[in-house]
Amino acid sequence: MKIQWKEEYNTNIKLIDEQHFRFIMELNSLFDKKIFSEKEMLIKKFNAIYKEIEIHFTTEEKFMHDYKFSGYFSHKSEHDRFKRNFLEQISQIDNGKMDNLEKMVFSISNWFVNHLEINDKKLAKYLNLINVY
Ligand SMILES: [Fe+2]
Ligand SMILES: [Fe+2]
Repeated sequence: MKIQWKEEYNTNIKLIDEQHFRFIMELNSLFDKKIFSEKEMLIKKFNAIYKEIEIHFTTEEKFMHDYKFSGYFSHKSEHDRFKRNFLEQISQIDNGKMDNLEKMVFSISNWFVNHLEINDKKLAKYLNLINVY
């Protein structure tokens, strides 16, 4: 199921919002059935998405670090866990495990929305409080 962008996903931090929006669009494009049948295309797409999420996580981590956010370590460890999991999925696809792809994309989407709603919002609240935009 595609993620529907909601007003409440906005964090009021322009760069973070742009990255979140782009990432959700990328995830949604994975629900295009054609892509599921071609391994090479899928791996290329997953790798591109991985690069994008790495840039995004680095952006948030830099904010957390620069503005001395107290939840830095737990937030970062969630990012790290997600990245490990994502790479694991890519290697499974590479090994030919192409069944359950839809479920996999669904769980990635779920994670992302949950993380945004809980952790990213917490960070955004802090940044907004100290007037970082
Ligand atoms: Fe985050
Ligand atoms: Fe985020």
